[in-house]
Amino acid sequence: MTTNTVFPADFLWGGAIAANQTEGAWHEGGRGTSNIDMLPIGDKRMPVKLGQVAQPELDETLYYPSHTGIDFYHRYKDDIALLAEMGLKVFRTSISWSRLYPNGDEETPNPEGIAYYRSLFETCREHGMEVLVTLAHFDMPMGLVTGYGSWRSREMITFFTRYAKTCFEEFGDLVKYWITFNEINIILHSPFSGAGLAFQPGENQKQVTYQAAHHVLVASALTVKMIHEMLPAAQVGCMIAGGSFYPYTSKPADVWQSMLDDHDNTFFIDVQARGYYPSYMKSLLASKGVDAIEMADGDEEILKNTVDFVSFSYYASRTSAHNLDELTANEGNVVKSAKNPYLPTSKWGWVIDPLGLRITMNQLYDRYQKPLFLVENGLGAEDTVAAGGSINDDYRIDYFREHIKAMADGMADGVPLMGYIAWGVIDLVAASTGQMTKRYGMVYVDKNNDGSGSLKRSKKKSFDWYKQVIASNGTVL
Ligand code: BG6
Repeated sequence: MTTNTVFPADFLWGGAIAANQTEGAWHEGGRGTSNIDMLPIGDKRMPVKLGQVAQPELDETLYYPSHTGIDFYHRYKDDIALLAEMGLKVFRTSISWSRLYPNGDEETPNPEGIAYYRSLFETCREHGMEVLVTLAHFDMPMGLVTGYGSWRSREMITFFTRYAKTCFEEFGDLVKYWITFNEINIILHSPFSGAGLAFQPGENQKQVTYQAAHHVLVASALTVKMIHEMLPAAQVGCMIAGGSFYPYTSKPADVWQSMLDDHDNTFFIDVQARGYYPSYMKSLLASKGVDAIEMADGDEEILKNTVDFVSFSYYASRTSAHNLDELTANEGNVVKSAKNPYLPTSKWGWVIDPLGLRITMNQLYDRYQKPLFLVENGLGAEDTVAAGGSINDDYRIDYFREHIKAMADGMADGVPLMGYIAWGVIDLVAASTGQMTKRYGMVYVDKNNDGSGSLKRSKKKSFDWYKQVIASNGTVL
């Protein structure tokens, strides 16, 4: 199908992965253990993710998928060459904080970690791809969790900015685009897997979480300031797990609930893009049973360091209801949502709503008036390898096509969008479930949920489809 393109010539078509979901080699090259390394596949994953285990410990009888990932650590040269064949203009990945600072509180970084990322980014550049780096994509050194209680401690700001400074010094000549924190709002929905928060029995978990969120925001603003000073040619963005909140009905109570849910996620971006807490913050915190956040002298000034662009992931819209507990929940979502009766869902219960992407784009741009960047979009689905080895993932192509069309409509509405980045462009470990069978890739990786498999890479049908989308700058879908 052919459409008129609204995509500028420098539109950044890309593919994304994250270190914790791909690299493996968890104790190689001097890397320290991270919070994500404590997440097994299976039933025991959920309590850890939610921070319900005060001191999570490894259990030898369980399988921990991040320890081996898809072995990207050893195979990155071949993987990047394969992705370059698709014509990606930008490759998005994250840096594993515990590869540079194994325990998190060292004074100096691990040289092997630096050498690894320099080589990875050089490889991307050799293939003509720009690099977009996320400094914190859910993972952090476990030493900061056990030693400091993660982001509940203000000392984290020192450790994070030290780590960020190292990244700018060592990789600033290779990386043009930076994101400080992946899906910053996920700290509220999945505190341990999103931000290393593990709760002590009896404490006010929400109080701890919103205070920790404040520390993250201060660290992010200091990092933005540092980039602007150290790398004036680079661009830095914030990132939200996007997706509008629709009211379940036209009852004012549902409409109000959708506004509250929206505020609870966008306050992060309000701070990062506008430079101050929104006026609704006090009443939002009160509605959660949270006392005022403790601010240190100077924090207000620090928060004025705002980002250059607003990036977001979009997988699905959400539905808010004032009586959510009485309704059927939409299973599988990290962010709580009622079931939307008008939308189909993936096998994992995520609604499929391309128009929701156009709505989200319009809402974000109306609110922030900064360039947007769609840095994650994709469909988690099971793939079947046919007898001859082909993988006909037409369902994934359909999903991408409809979302790219909706994105083009959003751009025609006047929303400036820097680029489109397909998530999990090569199959990787699912963040929410730890499964390999929840596949997003255009490149298939032969690995199963129990860790077995040859790790061989092969192209799916979507590989050639995306290649022509990029080659035609979005005119051939
Ligand atoms: C986003 C994350 O929330 O969604 C990714 O930034 C994640 O890390 C992606 O993989 C899809 O979620 P899941 O749980 O299906 O992997």
